[in-house]
Amino acid sequence: MAWKKIASLADIPEYEGLKVDVDGHGIALFHVEGEVYAIDDMCSHAEAHLSQGFLEDCVIECPLHQACFDIRTGKVLSAPATEDVNAYEARIDGDDVLIDI
Ligand code: FES
Repeated sequence: MAWKKIASLADIPEYEGLKVDVDGHGIALFHVEGEVYAIDDMCSHAEAHLSQGFLEDCVIECPLHQACFDIRTGKVLSAPATEDVNAYEARIDGDDVLIDI
């Protein structure tokens, strides 16, 4: 395991997404009820940033064509996307947000 700090918790308002670049790869972070979740920022369907989608509970709706993904697992939940996105283990340490890369 290699935990890497990628954000500060204060930068991620609850129920909103934040895109961060990790070694050139876009990761979308979400802050829900004291937990932080990390998935690929790029939708698996086309060119859209999931960090800019609409979040309800642990489901993010893509802002372009409204496919839904579970932010805990990256699993696609509805069309038109058919492929999951990657999910990354994330944890909070004080005000630091770390992911396992
Ligand atoms: Fe996300 Fe089409 S780009 S559903």
